[in-house]
Amino acid sequence: MRIGVLTGGGDCPGLNAVIRAVAKSLIHHGHCEVVGILDGFEGLMGDAPRTRPLGWGDVSGILHIGGTILGTSNSANPLKDDATLAQVGRNVRALGLDGVVAIGGDGTMSIAHGLRAVGLNAVGVPKTIDNDIAHCERSFGFDTAVATATDALRRIESTAYSHHRVMIVETMGRHAGWLALESGIASAADVILLPEIDYGLEAVIARCRAREQRQRYTIVCIGEGAKERGGSLTVRERVEYSPDPVRLGGVGHVLRERLQPHLKSEVRATVLGHVQRGGDPTPFDRVLATRFGHHAARLVIEGRFGRMVTLQGGRIGSVAIADVANTQRTVPPDHELLAMARDIGVCLGE
Ligand code: F6P
Repeated sequence: MRIGVLTGGGDCPGLNAVIRAVAKSLIHHGHCEVVGILDGFEGLMGDAPRTRPLGWGDVSGILHIGGTILGTSNSANPLKDDATLAQVGRNVRALGLDGVVAIGGDGTMSIAHGLRAVGLNAVGVPKTIDNDIAHCERSFGFDTAVATATDALRRIESTAYSHHRVMIVETMGRHAGWLALESGIASAADVILLPEIDYGLEAVIARCRAREQRQRYTIVCIGEGAKERGGSLTVRERVEYSPDPVRLGGVGHVLRERLQPHLKSEVRATVLGHVQRGGDPTPFDRVLATRFGHHAARLVIEGRFGRMVTLQGGRIGSVAIADVANTQRTVPPDHELLAMARDIGVCLGE
């Protein structure tokens, strides 16, 4: 078989580890030829598809390296119109691809699902620092992002303490609060604000005022998709044709402006941004990414296309890509971590 591999959507630590595991398993175990498709689905669009061979030597020595050797795109949308879709179909046939391993988030899974219409057989591998893919309790990249955000929060804490400030730290995560929740808990943040729980400004003010009296500094960890009760999302920009048309960012600064008039301490905001997506994957993510890549190759070898690799109850398995396309896994209101955070006195803005 001739199998393509692509990475779609925003990058995350561990992508190279998946590419390596997919290619090595397919070559060693499946006797397949493996081809890398460049820049996500963008490499399959246009008049000439863009690829590179993925032989054993091409994927050696990349396990620990962040980013993706194949490049990625989170604005390429092969489903945007019939002409684009038809061209992708011609490219897939010209490349002689028997299937593709698509490593990406919900946007990538939706596209992979849609490309069945032009005969593309796909196996999906979930990736995202947001940890928001349905039916998958842990996507690789998340552990590394939590570690990076936690480290940043701890660094912010020492300067917050020195200057007696309220420091707001904004994490990524889109419409899911997993990254803010876990890094907030791991760094002992005083206030954690998530997209899933619209916050009341009064509750945040009350917590900061109480801490002004005693500890004299406060750490607020806020997910980029959080919003005030009755307020709206903080949108950085809108992107035409993208499967994800809204880019978030800046809610920390919005909260700073709302809070400052009510507090004696100076309020400052830091947006962590893409630092959370970069760097070498943690050992946990290297292992998870290798497990995911190996399982994706097994699905290909067994001809089980249309499936996405998952982790459920600590076990590797798979679900239909159709069940994942256009869905998101947000923090459920009854999640144990929320109950625990409340019980140990974290303010969730309620
Ligand atoms: O989905 C991963 C993610 O890092 C989100 O947390 C974030 O909102 C988005 O990608 C940022 O994307 P971009 O790099 O296009 O700004």
